[in-house]
Amino acid sequence: MGTGFCNWVLPVILCCWVLFLSGVYSGDNLNGRKVRGVNLGGWLVVEGWIKPSLFDGIPNGDMLDGTQVQFKSVILQKYVSAENGGGQSLTVDRDIPSPWETFRFLLKQLWRVSETEFQFRSFGGQFLTCDAAGDSVSATAVSPSTKETFYVERNSNNRVHIKLESGAYLQATLANQLIADYPGTPGWDDNMATFDMIIVANNLHGDYQLANGYGHDKAKKVLTEHRNNFIKQEDFIFLYRHGINTVRIPVGWWIAQDPTPPPPFIGGSLAVLDNAFSWAQMYDIRCIIDLHAAPGSQNGMEHSSSRDGSIDWSTSPEYISQSLDVIDFLASRYANHPALLGIELLNEPSAFGVPLDALVSYYSKGYQIVRNYSSTTYVIICQRIGNADPLELYQANIGSSNIVVDLHYYNLFDIFFVNMSAGDNIEFIFKSRQTQLQALNKANGPLVFIGEWVNEWNVTSGSQMDYQEFGRAQLQVYDTASFGWAYWTLKNDRKHWDFEWNINKNYLQLEQTKVTSQIPNRREISSAAFFAFHGSSSHLFFNCKCFK
Ligand SMILES: *[C@@H]1O[C@H](CO)[C@@H](O)[C@H](O)[C@H]1NC(C)=O
Repeated sequence: MGTGFCNWVLPVILCCWVLFLSGVYSGDNLNGRKVRGVNLGGWLVVEGWIKPSLFDGIPNGDMLDGTQVQFKSVILQKYVSAENGGGQSLTVDRDIPSPWETFRFLLKQLWRVSETEFQFRSFGGQFLTCDAAGDSVSATAVSPSTKETFYVERNSNNRVHIKLESGAYLQATLANQLIADYPGTPGWDDNMATFDMIIVANNLHGDYQLANGYGHDKAKKVLTEHRNNFIKQEDFIFLYRHGINTVRIPVGWWIAQDPTPPPPFIGGSLAVLDNAFSWAQMYDIRCIIDLHAAPGSQNGMEHSSSRDGSIDWSTSPEYISQSLDVIDFLASRYANHPALLGIELLNEPSAFGVPLDALVSYYSKGYQIVRNYSSTTYVIICQRIGNADPLELYQANIGSSNIVVDLHYYNLFDIFFVNMSAGDNIEFIFKSRQTQLQALNKANGPLVFIGEWVNEWNVTSGSQMDYQEFGRAQLQVYDTASFGWAYWTLKNDRKHWDFEWNINKNYLQLEQTKVTSQIPNRREISSAAFFAFHGSSSHLFFNCKCFK
């Protein structure tokens, strides 16, 4: 009896000690609970599709930075083209664009200087330039300045006249050139200086477009109002009441230079992030700060604050070191905040534009920077979007403790999902997503985080019950991710993307699934005492796991 008592009590005491130690080492994170999170998208990094009204007050609001346009001479009925995408004089000789390559040569991307002044970037990256009145226009400037800035006069039929700062209007010539020598001022009748402007794509609505579109003072008003009201303290109460324990907060690189970031970016997001941390702390919620928009843009999308769709982040060591400075800034400011759970080093780098070696080098340095301030803060690295296997990050050996790989699971954005039924979508979650998650959970490496997912799909006629089932399948599978998940996003103009709408309208039933499991302990434990103890009685380790 006595021996039996000892056999029973010793492991319990030792187990308590182990649990105590692991509590100490894990710092103040979620006490081992998995992340059930919601993203605060469209707040400190603007995304026009999340809140389109932000852009309502911009004059010539369909001519923002990055807008793709074509020009067609109304007389010649030919398009202005930059042969081979740039590098030589423009021609006005192309018919209706058909082959894909030709089509791209017709595109010009706008860089907006004011509501009437623009620079035009050709597909090859060069800017249209014209030395002086009488000269032809070529696509040869590497960077834009005065000679690359054109005035655009526009009438209600989307006809335009384009003139130089000196006042000379461009015209098409019978030799199919574009020359700044139209005599006098053209009317809106058919003449050689009148062009149809075709807006081919107008899909960038980020911080750059907003701030540059309004100009500093008006943008400051619009963004201050947005940042102060889009997400408030009561939203954190809502999250708390529904069992959400984490928020993932996208931030832009310019937050590190608050309150006076370089133009056109608008200061003030840092104070709002501070508020988010205070509210989180009040309602027992943890924060993941996510560098969503990096300098130079890591994916060309509006949520990376790209000016014109280019992906330049990894082309310049300066952008990368500037990004590391942002991580240093965020880590130094929040590492000791009780509400900090993790820092995500970069959101959705593009497999198309960001080479793996550059990314791995950045992630390794970013990991070390966070570790300089905290041994426990989770360091989150996001998989590349596009054609990339998340295993590439598991094999990269980026950091040894509290490291997490973030995967974004959408049944959208790919032709693969286009004609899927509700049942097909659910089957995909169980077959494909679950299989990948199981494999990554088992991989001896970073924890797995489904940092973005949504209760939306391409099904157009889904009933409330269809959505509930889709949501339940996703929760059931994503709950198995070793680190947890975060819904995209708290609020959205499109209701099915809106977390609060989904909960209030009972389209997403969080209580139907319950997370009982905890984040597996894959931290590197450096305590000699712990090793000695663990090493000498390895069976205790398994006993202890039973208590968790
Ligand atoms: C989807 O279905 C429509 C109608 O049947 C069809 O025209 C279209 O090609 C399909 N698209 C894909 C990507 O399968």
